[in-house]
Amino acid sequence: LGRQVHFKESVTSTQKIAHQLAYDGVPEGTLVVSEEQTTGRGRLNRSWHSPKYTGVWMSLILRPNLPPAKAPQLTLLTAVAITQAIEEVTGLRPDIKWPNDILINKKKAVGILTEMQAEADKINSVIIGMGINVNHQIDHFPKELHSIATSLSIELGKTVNRAELIQSILLHLENLYERYLQHGFYPIKLLWESYAISIGKRIIARTITGTLEGLAKGITEDGILMLEDDQNCIHYI
Ligand code: BTN
Repeated sequence: LGRQVHFKESVTSTQKIAHQLAYDGVPEGTLVVSEEQTTGRGRLNRSWHSPKYTGVWMSLILRPNLPPAKAPQLTLLTAVAITQAIEEVTGLRPDIKWPNDILINKKKAVGILTEMQAEADKINSVIIGMGINVNHQIDHFPKELHSIATSLSIELGKTVNRAELIQSILLHLENLYERYLQHGFYPIKLLWESYAISIGKRIIARTITGTLEGLAKGITEDGILMLEDDQNCIHYI
């Protein structure tokens, strides 16, 4: 993975560029990295703050031979790879919060956005967008994020080498992705659960249509969260 890298100084969104490249037929493993995004996108139509030279803003193109329903598994796999890379490069101990936020000391340092193009019942490409707050100082964040967002350097007290972090993420991703293609999701699920903080706790899950509150029971084999509401009804989200 990452053998073909498109490195940019500034883009609207690496997701957008990766979608176009995928459509043009570039090979699996192609990576788009940018120093800055002017209109970075987050989940649920939110924006993603991506200032210059401070973070890792990148999108990876995968082309697994799988049905579209398996795509959420790749998000969880990516969360595990980034968590392992952060541990390796910084020594920090991140937690994963369902579905794909990575928190350090309870504040969000990483977001993952997975989007796919599918035809009939087959994935054509999956674009995995990764946003990592690396060398931000607290005043690089907009005020409304101060209490909920953080960066690796804030938590570590020193700057982190972004190239080294990207390299480590790609190595971990490659390793997990190969394992996943050979042995399926189960080994990845175990790793994900070992880093997850939400399972067994009451959570409020945001969905496109609103919020759902209940007990996070675990994840299914497909990588879907099972949430039990107060009427003991299980929702799959
Ligand atoms: C989230 O809402 O938590 C997901 C944030 C994903 C941000 C990354 S940064 C690189 C890629 N390009 C984008 O526009 N978004 C993703």
